Amino acid sequence: MNVLLLGSGGREHAMAWSIAKSDRLDELFIAPGNPGTAQAGTNVDLNLSDFDAILTFIEENNVELTVVGPEKPLVNGITDFLEEKGHKVFGPSKVAAQLEGSKQFANEFMKKNRIPTANFETYSRDEFDKALKIIKSKDEYPVVLKADGLAGGKGVFICESAEEVEKRLNELKEDERFQQAAQKLVVEEFMKGDEASVFVISDGKTAKILHYAQDHKRIGEGDTGLNTGGMGAYCPTPVIGNRMLQRVEKEIILPTISAMLLDENSYKGILYCGLMITDDGPKVVEFNCRLGDPEAQAVLPSLESDLLDLMDAAVNERLNEKEVKIDNKYRCCVVMASAGYPLDYEKGKVITGIDNVSDDALVFHAGTKAENGKIYTDGGRVLSVVAAGDTLQESIKNTYAEVKKIDFDNKYYRSDIGTKGLKYFD
Ligand code: AMP
Ligand code: GLY
Repeated sequence: MNVLLLGSGGREHAMAWSIAKSDRLDELFIAPGNPGTAQAGTNVDLNLSDFDAILTFIEENNVELTVVGPEKPLVNGITDFLEEKGHKVFGPSKVAAQLEGSKQFANEFMKKNRIPTANFETYSRDEFDKALKIIKSKDEYPVVLKADGLAGGKGVFICESAEEVEKRLNELKEDERFQQAAQKLVVEEFMKGDEASVFVISDGKTAKILHYAQDHKRIGEGDTGLNTGGMGAYCPTPVIGNRMLQRVEKEIILPTISAMLLDENSYKGILYCGLMITDDGPKVVEFNCRLGDPEAQAVLPSLESDLLDLMDAAVNERLNEKEVKIDNKYRCCVVMASAGYPLDYEKGKVITGIDNVSDDALVFHAGTKAENGKIYTDGGRVLSVVAAGDTLQESIKNTYAEVKKIDFDNKYYRSDIGTKGLKYFD
């Protein structure tokens, strides 16, 4: 098969690395890719908003499967667009991707189908004052405010007081960044518990769990400071034991896939279930319509099955014939970032030491650029370093041993990735 993979982050480097291992692959193209994906296939300079240019490339290069990494093209309907022209795409349709693209859609879908999640209310843009009044009258904090649409993980605020609610509501209303995303506001009950992410592959009828991981969204040690795209992850996470995983499958995954099918929005692709494991059981914090970044960098190396074969089976509704096999290792992924991220940071620092990393470990590129045989920083999240171990502790130790071999000016990484999982083994 000739495959086109869309995206350019650490997740896409991990996907390209995994797809490149497949016996079924002829040629792999990555658009736009990064210096890491260039080691797994051929990078192609395409703009992911330009669906016509993507179509032309597919037709000129006999691409038989297009795999979509990030959410934006999915929410904008790339799957429908290419399928209408007779091409195969791994990733949900525009309507199915609303599970990530609209918090209101996702919450109403879950409510209707009794899938456990937070209680919520939705308000239109001219009802923000009404929302504030209702929140004040309830006087229950923390309360969670969410912009309805895609906001790159920045549209969620956990507010501890009425003053904070007021400030954040103003921000959602006035800030340029939220013009699109905050056309509506979702107010949610705060759920208490430990978070975990379960990754599911689905062909619309059959759904199989790929793996489950824990992300570290905050910039600072001990989960403090600003939210980021993700500073590290590890898998499997002991936050979910075997019995909990069965509950997640029965109470969340199967009802979601079958209700989407019944609604004639069959869900094909990756379903990322962001969960809170509460005293009352697992509840959905959010759905995403793609793999997590950086979770994919830890999850995909654990996959013993052929990723391309699974994705092809999902597209062709034959997932029931396939088995998902994962190895029995723990994997830890540490994101090396540019100091200042997720706000302002400098770029263009030369990166050294990648070649010294052990053959047992993996380095996935994200914000990097190659020039004159050297690799330079070119973004907030720069590299993901992943290593395995027989225990979580060992995987953490092995990963940090590799991280220390890599250097660049203004590098920043959290030194506590994975450690919040260790308490489960005491
Ligand atoms: P989201 O973008 O919806 O995943 O939200 C970002 C983060 O905010 C999540 O990873 C949670 O840590 C937190 N969060 C979102 N919704 C809730 C909620 N209803 N209760 C508690 N925490 C939440
Ligand atoms: N790591 C969180 C996400 O990919 O949404």
